[in-house]
Amino acid sequence: MKAAVVTKFGSPSVLKIQDWPEPAPQQGEVKIRIKAIGLNFADVMARLGLYPGIPKPPFIPGIEVSGIITKVGENVRKWRRGDRVIAFTHLGGYAECAVVKQEQLFSLPKRMNFEEGAAFSVAYLTAYHGLLTLGHAHKGDKLLIHAAAGGVGIAATQMAKHLGAEVFATASTSEKLEIARAHGATHLINYQQEDFEEVIREKTDGYGIDVVLDSVGGTVFKKGWKILAPMGRYVLFGFSAITGKRTYSKIKVLREMIAAPILFPHTLLSRNVSLSCFNLYFLMKKSEYLRNSLRLVLDWQANGILKPVIGARYPFSKIAEAQAYMQSRKSIGKIVITLD
Ligand SMILES: NC(=O)c1ccc[n+]([C@@H]2O[C@H](COP(=O)([O-])OP(=O)(O)OC[C@H]3O[C@@H](n4cnc5c(N)ncnc54)[C@H](OP(=O)(O)O)[C@@H]3O)[C@@H](O)[C@H]2O)c1
Repeated sequence: MKAAVVTKFGSPSVLKIQDWPEPAPQQGEVKIRIKAIGLNFADVMARLGLYPGIPKPPFIPGIEVSGIITKVGENVRKWRRGDRVIAFTHLGGYAECAVVKQEQLFSLPKRMNFEEGAAFSVAYLTAYHGLLTLGHAHKGDKLLIHAAAGGVGIAATQMAKHLGAEVFATASTSEKLEIARAHGATHLINYQQEDFEEVIREKTDGYGIDVVLDSVGGTVFKKGWKILAPMGRYVLFGFSAITGKRTYSKIKVLREMIAAPILFPHTLLSRNVSLSCFNLYFLMKKSEYLRNSLRLVLDWQANGILKPVIGARYPFSKIAEAQAYMQSRKSIGKIVITLD
């Protein structure tokens, strides 16, 4: 099979299309023919060697795909050959075929095509887990959503609108901010031109923010933490601040790590605030919770409350270009790779 392989850690050019042996499903696993791949920022971090628990190259990255089951292993009851599915591949998704544990498969609803299927689950489950399960966002809450025009950012903004929360959206260009507005953001902050901490203090008369969704970390974490309102919930789920336009610099990583606030649990008592951190990649064992959460967000999608945005499509042969585009910070919504 053809696979896009991280041949060594580095810039997008290290991603090479190669012939790899087709994997065979073992007990409790199925093999799928991949039809579409959802790109995630985690794939960029994996290629850079910055993702926790990533193997040494060569390896096939990719955590989110859609496709058709071509073979089932022993002890697989629910799934059959020919089923259309969404799958969390836990690496191995940048290929024509993948083998997946049966718990990491979800039915692709008839109303969705493969591209929509590949673009949905990670973004909406991340937004759901951050905003609702950990952030306990409610109607009227003031929310701060960073990277608001990205895959997760749009998903979270649409959910916040559905809840009736007030969204303060940050992004690096006015075009992206207009996208955030179209999906439900009220306050638009171009952090390249304004200081989001100051703007929020001013717009909220010093009250601050009830829930912060922070996927950037470092300096952004430090500033966001300061404007958390009493009973505020800070949800940290990424560290994009350490990446550069093509590779990354160790000095920048160190600078952003040092910039993060130093937290002593007892100081949180008097501020009445909480910090939650998560990574869905390490949450796959909670398959029942993920399945129920996905069912809920798919219901919202079926009812038109959530509208996934695919901002760019690339053929499999151009997957390295697609990753470079994501890393360039120009992408809007999800990027999807299509396979014949
Ligand atoms: N923990 C989890 O389970 C989980 C799951 C999914 C995603 N995530 C995290 O959530 C974030 C968004 O993921 P996504 O896949 O939806 O990607 P994305 O938002 O579509 O793209 C990344 C965006 O992050 C923003 N950004 C801010 N600082 C950046 C920097 N130094 N370098 C590059 N980009 C920077 C850029 O938007 P602006 O230029 O507008 O700021 C960029 O467009 C990522 O940090 C990702 O790792 C975490």
